[in-house]
Amino acid sequence: MKIENKFLIEAFQVPSKVAARVAPFFEQLPPDKYINSDHRFRAYARFQSENGNIIKLPHSKFKQSSQVNRVLGDVERDFSDMSQDMVNTVEFQHLLKSFMESTGAIDDHSVVDVHQIRVTCDHDAASAPAPEGIHQDGFRYVGIFCVQRKNISGGYTQIFASPVEQHPHLNTVLEENQFVILNDERFYHYISETLSNIEGQKGVRDVFVFTA
Ligand SMILES: [Fe+2]
Repeated sequence: MKIENKFLIEAFQVPSKVAARVAPFFEQLPPDKYINSDHRFRAYARFQSENGNIIKLPHSKFKQSSQVNRVLGDVERDFSDMSQDMVNTVEFQHLLKSFMESTGAIDDHSVVDVHQIRVTCDHDAASAPAPEGIHQDGFRYVGIFCVQRKNISGGYTQIFASPVEQHPHLNTVLEENQFVILNDERFYHYISETLSNIEGQKGVRDVFVFTA
């Protein structure tokens, strides 16, 4: 009988050149038109491993069930496609492959969704990177990779065992070039609000969110 382990949480650091290479592509992100805020920018793409290669699937709309997303559940969201130039970078491909290897998607060929998200904030008004509160994404695995934190206070990555827990199992600032992957069926997650820590300047938090 084969004894199999169950994946819970993995966190790792990638070389610093990775975030530096993909960061410029966050400057051109279009606004997320499904959120009533001028602080959110977003693009979306889907990938799958096929015969040892990772291919980008045709662009499609994104929908989550209202069971998992109480703010935008059952809404078909037509996000902009990701920049092909960015997708082609060795650094982005490395992130994608790392996520697929950790979660087994490289072998079971499950579709991997990637969201490229920028959340900005002001000095005097907090922004909520996770407006749906403590939540699951409705997948088997979710990965968060931090590309940039600029002028930011807050934005803690928090992992909970249930949505009503007061104390997170993990409560940490995901720094640039850090990647955390969690079992989305087992844990709930939340990103705390952010504030710019420099008066008169915007705070910026750039991430990729991967799901499989
Ligand atoms: Fe999430």
